[in-house]
Amino acid sequence: MYEQALFKNRQEGRPATLAEYRAGGGYQALTDTVNKLSPQDLIQALKESGLSGRGGAGFPTWRKWSFVHENAPHPRYVGANTDEMEPGTFKDRVLVNTDPHLVIEGIILAGYAIKAQKAFYFIRPTYEMDAQIIERELQVAREAGFLGQNILGSDFSFDIAVHRSAGRYICGEATAMVQAIMGRRPHPQKNVHMTDAGLWDRPTIVNNAETLACVPLVIRNGGAWFKGLARTETGAGTKLYCISGKVVRPGCYELPMGIPFREILEEVAGGMLPGSELKAFIPGGASTSFMPPKFMDVAMDIDSLKQVGHRFGTGAIIVFDQNTCILGATLNLITYFARESCGFCTPCRQGLPYILDLIQRLENGEGEEDFIPRLRELAGHMDKAYCAFAPGAAAPVKGMLQYFEAEVREHIIQKKCPFK
Ligand SMILES: Cc1cc2nc3c(=O)[nH]c(=O)nc-3n(C[C@H](O)[C@H](O)[C@H](O)COP(=O)(O)O)c2cc1C
Ligand code: SF4
Repeated sequence: MYEQALFKNRQEGRPATLAEYRAGGGYQALTDTVNKLSPQDLIQALKESGLSGRGGAGFPTWRKWSFVHENAPHPRYVGANTDEMEPGTFKDRVLVNTDPHLVIEGIILAGYAIKAQKAFYFIRPTYEMDAQIIERELQVAREAGFLGQNILGSDFSFDIAVHRSAGRYICGEATAMVQAIMGRRPHPQKNVHMTDAGLWDRPTIVNNAETLACVPLVIRNGGAWFKGLARTETGAGTKLYCISGKVVRPGCYELPMGIPFREILEEVAGGMLPGSELKAFIPGGASTSFMPPKFMDVAMDIDSLKQVGHRFGTGAIIVFDQNTCILGATLNLITYFARESCGFCTPCRQGLPYILDLIQRLENGEGEEDFIPRLRELAGHMDKAYCAFAPGAAAPVKGMLQYFEAEVREHIIQKKCPFK
């Protein structure tokens, strides 16, 4: 009932083969591109499509690609991001297990659009099985002439290498990822324009795997078609939404961008588990805020969530019920974030353990009234950190204080967690 574009070839238990991908129109976009389209044609189609990044920041894809100047030096690079260490997010893994050639074709088209020579497929080490799927299918693509020297007889030569991440959340941040690929410490970099000077100081674009998988669909079917797949004017295309937590059918679903959370929960995920009532949801992975049920009918797209003061993130929804202690859930998330801080800047390196300590003591029933304003102040300080990691880590803390302050205070009054 929902149009399946990215998941057109989805089947139980195994990824689509090259033959299955091609039977559904796969590699037609690449064939047309190398035969008759210019890099500018691709960028124009992406502009019409409204495609924006699916990795969390929602940056318009065409704009990023157009930053690579015509006369910029070579070699140029593409980074395909499947680090996916954001808790609650598992869409890129499902995508790779569904249709690896859709992602591969997207990376090749990105390479063509910026006249790149090489791509790195960056993947978290716990996705080893998926890395091997990609490696195997890359070889299949090479043998079929879609990768390597003179692709499909054209003068375009391009190849893709798989790079396994060291396995830290920060490695997924685009500038840190570039450092990691070069064998350096994955510290994020400020004031660098990677489209001018990224990998080995050469023009580099980094895109999320899902973003890249949308590209062949846009080129094959046109930008207007892609744009029209969304439910809202502000959205574009379909989106791989993850839903997990207290729902009947957790999973990864391809749905129109802009679908309201209520429909995802009630129609797609089968509603709340028996005996569970919705208390809160996180809309886009652990680095977005808790949202109470009053937001159930807000369209799940980047602009609509922004209008109500929230972030879309990766579209990975986590659902909590009335028996969940929101303070305990926040403790769980902040424990992860404090551990994953790269330690480069003070607000994040020092502030997250401080936040963790206050929340841990509150949860243990050892909290005091002034912990609440201290938490609020510390969460605010995260906006002064060097990269987007720390503000993301603070998002659930801010959401907890905004919507569930009374519940936090109850821990202080009762001197214990009221849910235990
Ligand atoms: C701490 C942190 C972790 C990130 N992890 C990922 C990731 O695993 N995958 C991803 O695509 N983007 C991740 N991003 C976003 C990237 O920096 C970048 O915006 C994205 O890969 C660009 O691709 P897109 O424009 O296609 O979304 C992360 C950002 C931060 C701050
Ligand atoms: S905000 Fe955190 S992850 Fe980002 S540079 Fe600072 S210490 Fe590293």
